[in-house]
Amino acid sequence: MNIVRVDNYEEMSKASARYIIDKVKANRKMTLGLATGSTPKGTYQYIIEDHKQKGTSYQQISTFNLDEYIGLSAKDPNSYHFYMKDVLFNHIDLPLNHTHIPNGDVLDKEEECVRYEAKVKESSIDLQILGIGANGHIGFNEPGTSFQSETHVVALAESTREANARFFPSIDDVPTHAITMGIASIMASKEILLLVSGEAKSEALERLLSDQLPSEDFPASILKTHPRVTIIADNEALMAT
Ligand code: GLP
Repeated sequence: MNIVRVDNYEEMSKASARYIIDKVKANRKMTLGLATGSTPKGTYQYIIEDHKQKGTSYQQISTFNLDEYIGLSAKDPNSYHFYMKDVLFNHIDLPLNHTHIPNGDVLDKEEECVRYEAKVKESSIDLQILGIGANGHIGFNEPGTSFQSETHVVALAESTREANARFFPSIDDVPTHAITMGIASIMASKEILLLVSGEAKSEALERLLSDQLPSEDFPASILKTHPRVTIIADNEALMAT
């Protein structure tokens, strides 16, 4: 794993946007794996800024998002469908029919997982952007998830619901389940870019960078076995290391 240390959130956002933009320029038809949450918001802002100022085009790019809550419609401001339009898709020239996000608002969730996994496999992700949960989750793959897992329905850990409650009116409004790309689906990406910012993630990052062997108790630990992982982390995230 290649680690890039930066001063703060702003620098992490700039460095990761630059990293992604350079890849897009080198391969105009690439498939990008996208993450949600607070961490990549700044990255998306810098991608938008660059698109507006320098004209980097995403017309032939395809995207796949990691996950989506179950039970929220695409119009719900807390859905990841809404988030992606709001923070990125509405501001660059990426055709909306090139974007893919699991649909958490369907009757047959299992069928949706099979459909989504087949799409991910067919496209094959060139660069997957990832955040990390304080408990080591990647996507919504909570501790205990099989390293062999593909796209599946998950029950969210209580700690994850609490961590994400800040976006909802109350904890009771946070969905209990989600659809997420599995660990095997994420690991099939040709390259992974993990973004880590802030003290709240420092213990997770310390565990990831330690000598401990990969363990399903700590989903992100599998990344140690991927041949091409870059971590961009800020000083606060690296404070325990
Ligand atoms: C969320 C998302 C993940 C994200 C992680 C960290 O629950 N499902 O994709 O990477 O948890 O979120 P944040 O960046 O807000 O800390």
